[in-house]
Amino acid sequence: MLQKSNTMKQKKIRIAAATTTCYFACQFSHLRKVIPIDRTIIITDQHVFKSHASKFRGWNTIILKAGEAYKIQPTVDAVIQQLVNMKADRHTWLVGVGGGVITDLTGYIGSIYMRGVNVGFVPTTLLAMVDAAIGGKNGVDHGVIKNLVGTIRQPSFLLYDTSFLKTLPDSEWRNGFAEIIKHAVCFKPALFRELEKNQLNSYRSNKQALAALIEKNAMLKFKIVQADEKEQGLRSLLNFGHTLGHAIEMVYEVSHGEAISLGMVAAARLSAKLSGFKETDRLQQVLAKYGLPTLANYDLEKLMQSMEMDKKKAGKTIRYILLKQIGSAVSQLHSFAVIKKLLNQQL
Ligand SMILES: NC(=O)c1ccc[n+]([C@@H]2O[C@H](COP(=O)([O-])OP(=O)(O)OC[C@H]3O[C@@H](n4cnc5c(N)ncnc54)[C@H](O)[C@@H]3O)[C@@H](O)[C@H]2O)c1
Ligand SMILES: [Zn+2]
Repeated sequence: MLQKSNTMKQKKIRIAAATTTCYFACQFSHLRKVIPIDRTIIITDQHVFKSHASKFRGWNTIILKAGEAYKIQPTVDAVIQQLVNMKADRHTWLVGVGGGVITDLTGYIGSIYMRGVNVGFVPTTLLAMVDAAIGGKNGVDHGVIKNLVGTIRQPSFLLYDTSFLKTLPDSEWRNGFAEIIKHAVCFKPALFRELEKNQLNSYRSNKQALAALIEKNAMLKFKIVQADEKEQGLRSLLNFGHTLGHAIEMVYEVSHGEAISLGMVAAARLSAKLSGFKETDRLQQVLAKYGLPTLANYDLEKLMQSMEMDKKKAGKTIRYILLKQIGSAVSQLHSFAVIKKLLNQQL
């Protein structure tokens, strides 16, 4: 399964009937060898295009405005019109080069344009490299509801070029590390210990350590999706910190990473009461080390209202992801009232 050429590593990952080829430690220029340039349309955003203009030379490119605010149906319609203008057909490749907003949009457009064309991703944020670009979930937001509309469809390939990260803003590095810490605390005690020993800048300044960290985390997510593509069990554990985190993100002006950092701390404290977890301090220390918040004053009433709209709530109960110990997460069904009472005690 594993083929090597120089430092680049190629891995083929089967998910249900689909195969995704991953080009780790690769360079963007390798894309020309992966797909035919004359039958490819790249979708990217203004920030990525501006910061890496030379990489796009020679490629047909659609450049979108950057940001979550544009992950909406009107953007999809505008891109479809551009694809028609560019005479894209069933044999066209769509390649999303960007963060999670671009990979979510491109995956979705690729799954509906002409009932589906080939799609590949070049993730350019740390978060997209270890999380958003993996697993085939794609789609757009509708009103205040994130990711309401979309499909699950695996991309044909992912190409990893860490040189994109040279221009990534500090806040986006922290967002990526929030998901990496989530992976470690839920599944990988050894990775958690590695994160405890290092810090953000030690990865940022060491290309090899960074590439290894990205590959490890990407493969972790791939394995989870491989086992449970439709989120019927194991994959749901990736929502650790996200139930309250999404509510915080909706109600307050904070980044996704900051919101889930607070959500993970709250979930760890709930775990102390509900699943015997004893290491909340260690989790808080690691989050703080990677520049993520662990304490905040929030209006629980408002957050609970937002959580009631959460997709994981069933009637008067809610499925919450908790920790048993570092590296071991569980999904438990609890009454909404119990969760609310315990969260209230934390304030
Ligand atoms: N499909 C999934 O399974 C999944 C999982 C997690 C998150 N997501 C989605 O991913 C999105 C968040 O992803 P994100 O954090 O990558 O956000 P993003 O795509 O908005 O990127 C963050 C910012 O960084 C900029 N940027 C991207 N790459 C850059 C680079 N190399 N240099 C400089 N600037 C760069 C972007 O223009 C943007 O301003 C959300 O919409 C979320 O719902 C999807
Ligand atoms: Zn997340």
